[in-house]
This record gives sequence, structure tokens and C-alpha cells, in this order.
Amino acid sequence: MKVENIKRICVLGAGTMGAGIAQTCSQAGYSVTMMDLTEELVEGGFKRIRTPLEKRVQKGKMTQDEVEGIISRIKGTTSLSEGVRDAHFVIEAVYEDMKVKKEVYREIDKASPPEVVFASNTSSLSITEMAATTSRPEGFVGMHFFNPAPVMKLVEVIRGSETSDETVALTMDLSRGLGKEPVEVKESAGFLVNRLLVPMMNEAFNLLMEGIATAEDIDKAMKLGTNMPMGPFELADFTGLDVGLAVMEVLHRETGDPRFRPSPLLRQLVRAGRWGRKVGRGVYDYRGE
Ligand code: CAA
Repeated sequence: MKVENIKRICVLGAGTMGAGIAQTCSQAGYSVTMMDLTEELVEGGFKRIRTPLEKRVQKGKMTQDEVEGIISRIKGTTSLSEGVRDAHFVIEAVYEDMKVKKEVYREIDKASPPEVVFASNTSSLSITEMAATTSRPEGFVGMHFFNPAPVMKLVEVIRGSETSDETVALTMDLSRGLGKEPVEVKESAGFLVNRLLVPMMNEAFNLLMEGIATAEDIDKAMKLGTNMPMGPFELADFTGLDVGLAVMEVLHRETGDPRFRPSPLLRQLVRAGRWGRKVGRGVYDYRGE
């Protein structure tokens, strides 16, 4: 498959990342099918796309016609096989659980022509392991977008042990076609950005647990001292504490290195259901917003 032959992209999952990736593909001119398990979840995905775009219209940065154009190029579906049937490239952003992902891949593998590349947006799971459940391990790659996907410029292109050079090259080309800057990364726990970023956030939870400073002051210090747009807790609430903990657990398990031990406070907040903005409460409380 050549990048110029890719016209239709299927995005599996209409959550924060799936919807953001579907929007990114549509904004770049591709026809998109966005699939999730229920009508309600698919509708939720469209809402995630529409709300920030409407804000851009209000600010005069986009016209209503442009918004309708972006939405109209995205077709929603609740059927996996329908989603992938005509797609030239598949990007998977379903729930971050190896068992769930393997089930999805087993099913779409049967419904999708062999030349179609499967790209997983996983932030922590093994590309090689997912690829092994399909008949196309050489046509399987990681394509890791960053939240919010329509805004963040980076895509990590992850090479699993069986991923072919052609698949990596195609995914790098497609990323550029989506207006992103790709970097190629060999598969390893946390890939590149999360191996650096998430342990920093984890250490912020340790600082807070030890009473070294308040959450607000830790965020303020990192924003003013390093020019980060968000402090570590604002970012953890934005990306999801559950996602951060999952990344730390993978780093710890895969390397056996104690420096990647998840912070007990992070673990406790996740156990309490304080997963961040998406549930209204993480380190901070958003329920009044
Ligand atoms: N679609 C289109 N445009 C969007 C958008 C969306 N979904 N969301 C925001 N925007 C646009 C806004 O319209 C705005 O555009 P203009 O500059 O043209 O006005 C611009 O993006 C900035 O948005 P806001 O003005 O609303 O807010 P902000 O200036 O505070 O920026 C932010 C918000 C971009 C999220 C910024 O705070 C930021 O960069 N934060 C850090 C994000 C980050 O680090 N992400 C990576 C997390 S790690 C990860 O994702 C990996 C993992 O696996 C865990």
C-alpha cells in the first residue's frame, strides 16, 4: 500500500483519543469511519469532536461550514466488520487492555484485506504481542498520538519486532499527511515520551505524598520553572490518572527497575475512582465546572 492510495481510514474507539484521531484524519481530508460498541459511545465521540470546534467558531478561528465539513467526512458505526470493510488503514484506540485489544484484532483480521495496515494507538501495551494475534504481524505498527490529538504535533511510530520497513515508512508518510511530525521508536516499555513524562508525573505524586509542597504549588513551580503548559497534576487529570498508573505499571513490570515503582498516592487515587477530568475528579475537583 502506498500513502497516496489511502483514502479511507477506520478509527476503532470513540473515546478521547479515538475521537481526536478521527477528527485529525477528517481535517486532513480523509474519509473516516469511527467505530465504538454502542450508539451512545459513538454519539459521545461526535460530541467530543464538535464541542471544541464550536468554540473555535465562536472565537472566529473557523467557520460553521468547516465544522460541518469535518463532521460530515466521519461516519459512525457500531459494527467492527463494517468499520474496517472498505478502510485502507486502521487506527485502533479502544480500551487500554490487552485482552480487549486482542479480541478486536482477531475479529478485524478476518474482515480486512491483508494489505491493510493495523496501527495501535496504545500508550503502554506491546505492539509485538498484539501483532502476533493477526495474520499480518509485518503490517502491524504502533501509532501513538498525544492528547489532544488534533492539536499535538507528535506521533510516535512504534516498530514491533515483526513490523516491516514498508509499514514503518507508510505510517511515517501517513502521519505527515495528517499534519504531524513522526518519530520512529523501537518497541520498549513506555516508548519514548511516556518513559520520560510519566515518571516525572509519578514523582510529583510522591512529592505530594511526602508533604513537600501543595498540589497547586507543584503545578505552579513546573509551569513557571520549566515553561510546561500544564503542571504535572493538571496534565495527569487531563490524560487520566488510570492511564498514568497503567504506564507506570508496564514500566515497572517490564524493566523490573524500582525507579519506575508507581507512587502509592497515584495508586490510591485511581482506586478511589479519581481518574481525572473525564470523571469530574482527580487531583483537583472539576464537578462544579
Ligand atoms: N480540536 C481542535 N482544536 C483544538 C482542540 C481540539 N480538540 N482543542 C484545543 N484546540 C485548539 C484551540 O482552539 C486553540 O486554538 P488557537 O490557539 O488557534 O486559539 C488551541 O488549541 C489551544 O487551546 P485552548 O486555547 O483551549 O487552551 P490552551 O492554550 O490552554 O491549550 C492545551 C490547551 C493544548 C491542551 C495545552 O494546555 C497543552 O499543550 N497541554 C499539554 C498537553 C500535553 O502534554 N499532552 C500530552 C499528554 S501525554 C499523552 O497524551 C500520552 C499518553 O499516552 C498519556
